[in-house]
Amino acid sequence: MTLDVVILAAGQGTRMRSRRPKVLHELAGRPMVRHVLDTAGELETRRLHVVIGHGGDQVREALGDTPADFVVQAEQKGTGHAVAQALDALGDGKVLILYGDVPLIRRETLAALLDRVDERRMALLTVTLENPAGYGRIKRDERGHAVAIVEHKDATPAERRVQECNTGIMAMTADQLRRWLPRLSADNAQGEYYLTDVIAMAAGEGIEIATAQPGDPVEVEGVNDRVQLARLERIVQRDAAERLMRSGATLADPGRLDVRGHVDCGRDVFIDVGCVFEGNVELADGVHVGPYCVIRDARLGPDSTIQAHSVIEGATLDGGSQVGPFARLRPGTHLARGARIGNFVETKNAEVGEGAKINHLSYVGDARLGRDVNIGAGTITCNYDGANKHHTEIGDRAFIGSNTALVAPVSVGEGATVGAGSTISKDVEAGSLAVARSRQTSLGGWQRPTKRSS
Ligand code: UD1
Ligand code: CA
Repeated sequence: MTLDVVILAAGQGTRMRSRRPKVLHELAGRPMVRHVLDTAGELETRRLHVVIGHGGDQVREALGDTPADFVVQAEQKGTGHAVAQALDALGDGKVLILYGDVPLIRRETLAALLDRVDERRMALLTVTLENPAGYGRIKRDERGHAVAIVEHKDATPAERRVQECNTGIMAMTADQLRRWLPRLSADNAQGEYYLTDVIAMAAGEGIEIATAQPGDPVEVEGVNDRVQLARLERIVQRDAAERLMRSGATLADPGRLDVRGHVDCGRDVFIDVGCVFEGNVELADGVHVGPYCVIRDARLGPDSTIQAHSVIEGATLDGGSQVGPFARLRPGTHLARGARIGNFVETKNAEVGEGAKINHLSYVGDARLGRDVNIGAGTITCNYDGANKHHTEIGDRAFIGSNTALVAPVSVGEGATVGAGSTISKDVEAGSLAVARSRQTSLGGWQRPTKRSS
């Protein structure tokens, strides 16, 4: 049987107190609804349908690069009405109902649920809660078979004492849905078309309602406000930290680290407090990351060291490079083996050769530095003329004196030396010394002015 997944994401999410639709609020750097889509995408699906309503255009735009189809529910008349909007787009196999604001559901839980669906059975994910107020309650017959869901607002005091709750997640065949959804009525406490009423319809037809529970209750936790969102964020981050530790990283404090993407981590890595990892990051064996670093889409080779407060984005570091403290490596930076970038240095689109050093207060952009180049403090590659970017080329073992401006396009040959304070606008030959600054003059016996007495 094929599988269609319907993700409900039309609700307003009033309690978020936000202009952004609730399902676009981010968990670990990804919108909640994207977590659900990604998990659903791990199942073999025919199509993924997202039911949108409030802020629908924003949701559509944010998910533009996913394989999802969108179904508009213009007015939110209940969960049953929401699913009904997708009815025409469904195939003939199984249908799984998920929620854009229940982001931590796991593939294994869904697979187990789907295993129980056929023409004679549907499947319902339930959870037993200490405090079930607000949830739909599972009604079972004397033999223990689930036969109905009663919404909290419609429930009698006796029904409200039931602790087994509807998570909302369920699966059935498309045929079953096509039979049941058109028969829903809004004759209830909330005047809504409840999806949950299909359970009683199934029982009425003698269709078995198989129930299952999630491996971890957090999988079925919904987010209604930012407090709940923050709670789930901590849980996701705790799991990310555990994964890093299990792959061989020592974390100074597993509670003070944030992963918003994927970190591939080798052995004997050390990560100090307050670091943020975004996008795809690779940390090879022996990498050391000091406190309060931000590392995004970067590859750090074996035994590289990043010292405190460095920001690294779109950079590749070969083995044994050293960066920081307070360094900023921007996209297109490549540090060859043993290169060193010190404090208050910014690099962009820069190839830094083996053993080269840029130790203090410099900007190196659109440049290639050979091996063992030494860049003095305060050196700037003037790569931008106001309209275009230009390249700077520095040969092996060249020495650039402090406070040099390299006006690109320009090249400095192998082993050349540039005197401190130079403005270099012409190519410097290999092995030569270039000095481009005004000569120092001295006036002997200079009398300093003195303060006038009044
Ligand atoms: C629903 C269930 C309840 C269950 C609970 C679990 C129903 C009738 N009740 O109640 O049994 O215990 O979830 O959290 O299904 N939505 C739409 N369009 C609509 C209405 C809702 O897309 O017209 C979406 C909402 O954005 C939300 C989800 O469906 O993500 C659930 O809707 P909500 O109104 O919060 O249902 P509950 O009252 O929580
Ligand atoms: Ca809800």
